[in-house]
Amino acid sequence: MTISSLNPENLKDFFPFFEKLMRKNFPFYHPKVIDYFLTKIYSQQNLYYQLQNNYRTILVAYEVSQPLGFAMIDEPYGGVSFLRWLAVDKNHQGKGVGKALVSEWEKITKSQGCHKMELAAYPLISSFYEKCGFEKEGLQKMSYFGVNQVVMGKVIGKFNLEKII
Ligand SMILES: CC(C)(COP(=O)(O)OP(=O)(O)OC[C@H]1O[C@@H](n2cnc3c(N)ncnc32)[C@H](O)[C@@H]1OP(=O)(O)O)[C@@H](O)C(=O)NCCC(=O)NCCS
Repeated sequence: MTISSLNPENLKDFFPFFEKLMRKNFPFYHPKVIDYFLTKIYSQQNLYYQLQNNYRTILVAYEVSQPLGFAMIDEPYGGVSFLRWLAVDKNHQGKGVGKALVSEWEKITKSQGCHKMELAAYPLISSFYEKCGFEKEGLQKMSYFGVNQVVMGKVIGKFNLEKII
């Protein structure tokens, strides 16, 4: 397995995989919400713009040229890197792909001089993140799109003002 950061030029080939996983892996969102994500917030056009301007990073795990899963990360802010989405193809779950994507995210976060990684997880998935060293920091009830979310974080270093502004 290899993990690489998606180049905007390769987004066209990646997008159908992204669309498939968004539709299959997140049943706790109403299908209309997923449509809204795919056509508005994370449309191919918007993602292209975001990748080109480094507003977002998409890490893709591949077996040869077959994508297995992805992690979408926001541009760090205030020394904190936020994981927006993480998904692994159902046929390849339970083989360490998710853990490897989180580990690569951590490497990138460290190289950016950040002190912390954060995410909001669907409650049933929180134990996966605990296995990756994250702690539960709180519960957001009926949060965005009516879904409960567990706020999770992992401190990876000292806050360093010089490195982040
Ligand atoms: C959650 C997800 C990303 C995990 O990816 P994965 O490649 O299957 O996970 P890994 O094989 O790296 O598993 C690492 C560890 O977490 C555990 N784990 C995996 N999925 C889990 C889950 N859904 N709930 C609890 N623990 C889980 C594994 O058993 C493994 O434990 P071990 O280290 O003791 O063996 C993947 O199952 C997925 O895409 N789920 C649907 C989408 C989703 O919910 N994304 C997160 C939104 S917050």
